[in-house]
Amino acid sequence: MKIAVTGKGGVGKTTLVALFARTLRDSGKTVIVIDADPDMNLSRLMGIPLNEQPVPIIELKELIAERTGTELGRSSPIFKMNPKVSDIPEKYWVDHEGIKVMVMGGIKGGGLGCACPENAFLKSLISYILIIRNEWVILDMEAGIEHLGRGTAQGVDEMIVVVEPNQSSLETAHRIKKLAGELGMKKIEVILNKIHDKTEEKYITDGLKDIPVLGKVDYSAEMRKIDLGQETALTLSGISLAQVEAAAKNAGWI
Ligand SMILES: Nc1ncnc2c1ncn2[C@@H]1O[C@H](COP(=O)(O)OP(=O)(O)OP(=O)(O)O)[C@@H](O)[C@H]1O
Ligand SMILES: [Mg+2]
Repeated sequence: MKIAVTGKGGVGKTTLVALFARTLRDSGKTVIVIDADPDMNLSRLMGIPLNEQPVPIIELKELIAERTGTELGRSSPIFKMNPKVSDIPEKYWVDHEGIKVMVMGGIKGGGLGCACPENAFLKSLISYILIIRNEWVILDMEAGIEHLGRGTAQGVDEMIVVVEPNQSSLETAHRIKKLAGELGMKKIEVILNKIHDKTEEKYITDGLKDIPVLGKVDYSAEMRKIDLGQETALTLSGISLAQVEAAAKNAGWI
């Protein structure tokens, strides 16, 4: 199963990706999590010490130049769009407590949209992992999916949109649903996050109209602790974790 997680900035994508990875691992699955946000912080929320965090693939300049048939430090209008990438996952993921963590890195703001050798390499790598590999894959994406190419989109089995109780986060969810449809993705579902009470939950559920809701995670001090470095996604216990597990069960993942 290949799962992509998206949503407006700051809604809780990375925290939930890390918790889903842990939940899937706990149920005995082999999981690869991919940080595909140029503003990388998945490794930290997973609790990987700084000196053990995976190297962002985009920083492998020499390798990328070699594989894409370009010269290091020279801008080249012509490069290989389908470089060899099959040996990359095993070489560059970090196995952290049974979860394979990869970090793509990226060009801020440009997402995977820019036509340059680095992005051709990252796109090929992501497509390879989504389409060819057999592991469970969870992709932590940059806010929005505009930069997602058709090839990548078609490898995704389920697109999860994280929505928090406010109008702009809802609007993003509807926009993502429309774009995802245009990219040929069929299964779009929502996780409600940072919910304070029933009124907020109803507000979003009503606003989502026909987009199915997989589950909800309440606003909690425990979840904040992950960002504050007092817990990691792998040490968390309690209601928030149970709510993530319930959503994963509801999705049929565990
Ligand atoms: N259920 C929750 N309760 C309380 N705080 C939460 C909850 N979920 C996430 N947060 C907090 O919200 C902030 C944003 O979370 P996170 O980094 O996971 O979001 P994101 O969508 O990945 O952000 P970005 O768009 O910057 O990548 C963090 O400080 C996190 O601790
Ligand atoms: Mg994030």
